[in-house]
Amino acid sequence: MPIKYVPFIPEPIEGQAVLSNFNRILKYKGADDVSMTIQRGMPLYEMEKQEAIGKNADGNMVIRGECVSACAYLKEQGIQVDLVYIDPPFASGADYAKKVYIRRNPKVAEVIAQAEQELDIDELKAFEEKMYGDVWDKEKYLNWMYENLMAIKSIMSETASIYVHLDFHIGHYVKILMDEIFGEENYQNDIYWYYYNKLHGATKKVFPRATDMILYYVKNRDAGFVFHHLTEERDKPVKKLKYSFVDGHIQNNKDENGKAITYISTERQIDNVWKLSMLQPADKEEPVGYATQKPETLLKRVIEASSDEKMIVADFFGGSGTTVSCAHRLGRKFIHCDIGLNSIQTTRDRLVANGAEFDVLEIKDGVQLYRNPVQTMDRIESLIPGLKNEDSLDSFWEGAVSDSKLGTIPVYVPNLMDSTSKLLDKVMMNRIIHQAIPDLDSSIKKIIVYFIDITDEAEIQKFIKEDDSTNIEIELRDLKAVLDDVIIGDYAEFHTEEPSDDLFDGYAIVIDKFISDRVLSKIAEFNQKAFLNSSEKKPYKPIEISEDGLELIEFLSVDCTATEGEWHSDSEIKIDKNGFIVVNGNKTKDFWDGTIRSEKKPLRLKIRNICGDETVWEVY
Ligand SMILES: C[S@@+](CC[C@H](N)C(=O)[O-])C[C@H]1O[C@@H](n2cnc3c(N)ncnc32)[C@H](O)[C@@H]1O
Repeated sequence: MPIKYVPFIPEPIEGQAVLSNFNRILKYKGADDVSMTIQRGMPLYEMEKQEAIGKNADGNMVIRGECVSACAYLKEQGIQVDLVYIDPPFASGADYAKKVYIRRNPKVAEVIAQAEQELDIDELKAFEEKMYGDVWDKEKYLNWMYENLMAIKSIMSETASIYVHLDFHIGHYVKILMDEIFGEENYQNDIYWYYYNKLHGATKKVFPRATDMILYYVKNRDAGFVFHHLTEERDKPVKKLKYSFVDGHIQNNKDENGKAITYISTERQIDNVWKLSMLQPADKEEPVGYATQKPETLLKRVIEASSDEKMIVADFFGGSGTTVSCAHRLGRKFIHCDIGLNSIQTTRDRLVANGAEFDVLEIKDGVQLYRNPVQTMDRIESLIPGLKNEDSLDSFWEGAVSDSKLGTIPVYVPNLMDSTSKLLDKVMMNRIIHQAIPDLDSSIKKIIVYFIDITDEAEIQKFIKEDDSTNIEIELRDLKAVLDDVIIGDYAEFHTEEPSDDLFDGYAIVIDKFISDRVLSKIAEFNQKAFLNSSEKKPYKPIEISEDGLELIEFLSVDCTATEGEWHSDSEIKIDKNGFIVVNGNKTKDFWDGTIRSEKKPLRLKIRNICGDETVWEVY
């Protein structure tokens, strides 16, 4: 349960009806449902500091958790931000996956390197992992966006600006939401990002789509928000007339002979159409392997136009960390938030490589996520004993369990990808009793309802008892107990080498063996699919992992500062997909040698496998 609910803005004055503050302009099915959520407030959970990188005098944060809960935390801490850029999932129906690359085994790295010199990177053995799904229907998405935008508004300073990055799927609806929330008078621009270098197929009967829209609003246009005009180099210099303003009118400047004065202009003011290239797989430097990564050139414009040095720039759907990476480079303070583990790790590593100082925090919202909500939902079926897909049931039900006496028992599980369904309250229970149960077959005698948060279990039980419209037994179960079993650590064998008397070349931990059941089962799944899809033309080429399993390691870090509590990375090695190592944020052209060194005596060792799961061992 949350510690408490923090009010969204505006703060209701005592005795004032909260809803009188809201005026929904956009009408759609369920548009008013969001008022309940707004009335309740933003859930505030405990925050755990997981890692401290540097002294972090600026209070920079990388937060794992949901946007709304991160805003509740910031509001409670009295932290206000000066600029927000968000690039939320688009409701495009797409599933995003991360390519996972098997690393080079250090024992054979040099040999493989020689053999692979001619190979394209995508031919390195890779499989995919789901990151997140854009799964909402339009109405649910708009309610979800409404809640997120309200939460974000509540932590924006009076002079702050917000940029919301969207595309044709939903952008025009969200513009109306923004008018509702920020006020039409605070609308500034729709910016069109024209990505001229996107590759288009010629099959569809439409003009190829080559723009995203970015809605730019300010919190309060009368409060003195920051805006700097930006210029860019022209494709070709042009001759222009020199002019001055006289009594508010433009007047051409003339020489002593009355001839208009001209000059050659090489720059132009940047307008609301931004022609910036999209990141391409062939780009060498910037891409970090995140499906929806945006280019830094775009974020640089947003940040330079709407903030000054030392101001706080926040991104609550931060993905690969483009916003905060740019903000850091431009001397701004930053806050990154994202629900996915991969985002937090990618951003952390990206910021370390940029020399940033920050804290990594995790919102303890009681949901022990397995990497991200999509993968957790995939695992739930295997975690609830006996749960099976049941074709005869509506999609509201996750499936059913069979009981020898009671027959089929439909099971409801909240969708972790849709935060609005996480709380079991009277409204949800009412929906189950009056909409979902009447649609069930008359032979059903019992249902099971899982919850993550519940307003008050005794009150919900009373509500069920008092409602006599159904004879079906309703059992309530806490999903958190199921999710707690989801994470099991990896296994490692290692030994330490201490500095010798005559030579100090630091301490070393040598990794002898690494086993990750979680990654191995993913690979087994991949191999099975590859086998079933193989043919004479496409022979079966399974991914094979060596005995010592070292090619399943992506990152190692040692903490020489503390044996418990938040992590201090005193030395770290990241192995990139080509097998080259990044040592303490510095790229090298060396292969990993199976060890990690540190100047001080290591107290703890952390290993991240190629899918992103991290396990910590004490070093004796
Ligand atoms: C389109 S991506 C952002 C990409 C980012 N602009 C970049 O340059 O890498 C959207 C991100 O939102 C995250 N996300 C989805 N729902 C969220 C929520 N409720 N709170 C916070 N992050 C969320 C996803 O994990 C994903 O990383």
